[in-house]
Order: sequence, then structure tokens, then C-alpha cells
Amino acid sequence: MNSTTSAYQTSASVSPKQMSQLNNLKLNDGNEIPMVKQSLDPYGNETELGQAIKDSGVPREKLYVTTKISGTQVKNTKEAFELSLKKLQLDYVDLYLIHAPYFAKTPEDLQAKWADLEAIHASGKAKSIGISNFLQPDLEVILKTAKIKPAINQIEYHPYLQRGSLLEFQNKHGIATSAYGPLTAVVKAKPGPLDGTYEQLARKYSVTPGEIALRWCIDQGVVALTTSASEDRLKAYQKVAQFKLTPKEAEEISEIGSQKHFRGFWGNKFAADDRS
Ligand SMILES: NC(=O)c1ccc[n+]([C@@H]2O[C@H](COP(=O)([O-])OP(=O)(O)OC[C@H]3O[C@@H](n4cnc5c(N)ncnc54)[C@H](OP(=O)(O)O)[C@@H]3O)[C@@H](O)[C@H]2O)c1
Repeated sequence: MNSTTSAYQTSASVSPKQMSQLNNLKLNDGNEIPMVKQSLDPYGNETELGQAIKDSGVPREKLYVTTKISGTQVKNTKEAFELSLKKLQLDYVDLYLIHAPYFAKTPEDLQAKWADLEAIHASGKAKSIGISNFLQPDLEVILKTAKIKPAINQIEYHPYLQRGSLLEFQNKHGIATSAYGPLTAVVKAKPGPLDGTYEQLARKYSVTPGEIALRWCIDQGVVALTTSASEDRLKAYQKVAQFKLTPKEAEEISEIGSQKHFRGFWGNKFAADDRS
């Protein structure tokens, strides 16, 4: 496990609801999520994020706020959720996620946690509910007892970690995919077989390789979840709204990407060659 992974704790994030010219993705509960989520997320620090939202003066309805319950520790869901709201100084979040399935010792633990999220959704305090880092077997467990299907699964997803048939399974069940680490091939996993392709496509569209990486997600209907400490970089990523990869280019990225395997997060939960 690298330091980024071990430091990774439950986080809240906030993104503008609409990026110029990019349509939002409609979720299975009727709500919409921005196709590119530019997160501001001081990990484990909902209090600061709440203050930042308040200080920004941006109307609440213009923001898309996501937070999560721990995926590694057993917590009382209602108490954890209410504490998150209190720290965020909000009445509701747009999306509440189970951060990972790793807290669960039995299938029933997962099913009970999902039922807790359904209760929160019913209270109106989380407009959408979903999961993160779930694989198909975890999803199958909760779908057995779910009254509401998860709206979204937030997973590490990029051309060097394409997750086998997980996206196909999620599409079949109307569960949207949100990709964290979408820039991995550009920022973490170099050198790699995609370096030349990204450069060439970046030249063609007069953008950066990072924007090609984000567009590869968007063109598959996958929400790209990115973050930057640089305001200039966040602004520059607005360019993803101004071009589209051809299906052949997107397919080429997938094919070339599958020549390499790289996982940036939760590495201690998987064998080194496991691509799921
Ligand atoms: N559910 C989970 O288990 C989980 C795990 C990890 C992350 N996440 C979520 O995913 C979000 C996205 O984070 P990520 O790390 O996965 O995002 P990412 O978009 O793959 O990478 C963002 C990082 O890349 C850097 N970067 C961006 N453009 C660059 C460029 N052109 N050249 C060099 N470096 C560049 C940024 O640094 P600068 O700040 O310098 O721009 C930032 O550190 C997080 O905010 C978090 O909410 C969730």
C-alpha cells in the first residue's frame, strides 16, 4: 500500500453542479450528477469543507456535495451521517456513499449497511445513495435485498485498470460509474504504452493528455472524478466540454491501455496481477 492509499480516509467532496456545455448524467433515481466532478476534498475534514462552502457564498443548489461512510470501520450509519451533515453545516448531501465493502464480515453486514443508506435516502437528507470500491460479487449481495438500487459505484478506473466486466454489469443494472484516478496513466503510471497515443490525440484536439484521459471516461458515460490544488488546472479542464473522441480513438485507448496493469489505491486488497 502506498502512502496515498494508507492516508486515504472517508472524505467529503464538493463540485460545481454544471460544467459549461457538458450535460449532466441522469442517475437511476432521476437526479443528475456532473459528468466531470472537480472535487475539493480535504480528506477526513468535513469541518473545513463545510466552512469553505459557507464562506464561498455559492448557493447550495449550485453545488454537488458527496460524502461517505467508512468502508473499513464498523460505524453506526445514522450517527455517522448526522455527524457528517453537522460538520458540513448542511441539511442534505447530494450523494452519500459506502466508501468500500471491506468493513463487512458477512454478506448480511453489507445488506444491513445498504438498508441504512436506503433509510437515509427516504429521510430526504441524501438525494442519491451509492457505493464505492464494490466489485460485482459485492453488488450482487446488496442487490438481493435492496429496495433501491445504488445510483452509482465510485471506483478507480482508467485505461490501465479497466475492471473486466464490472462496467457491463453495472450498465445492465442501471448503476452509473464514477471514475476516481482518471488521470492515472498521465500523472502516476508513466512511462506506459499510452504515452504516445495521449500526446498524439492531445495535439489533434489542442488539449493536454489529461483532458484526453478525462474525455475517455466521459465518452463511455463514466463520470470523471478529478482533483487539483491548482486553480489554473481546474479551469483548463473545462476544455473537455469542447471536443469528443471518435469511437475508434476511445477503443484504441482501451486496447492499448489493456497492455499495462496499474492500481493506485487499495492495493493491499488485491493480488498484484488482479485487474478486477
Ligand atoms: N473512493 C475512493 O476510494 C477514492 C480513492 C481515491 C480518490 N478518490 C476520489 O477521487 C478524487 C480524484 O482524485 P484522484 O487522485 O483519483 O484524481 P486524478 O484526477 O487521477 O489525479 C489528480 C492528481 O493529479 C495531479 N494532476 C492533475 N493534472 C496533472 C497534470 N497535467 N500533470 C501532473 N499532475 C497532474 C493533481 O495534482 P495538482 O494538485 O498539482 O493539480 C492531483 O494530485 C478525489 O478527490 C477523491 O474524492 C476516491
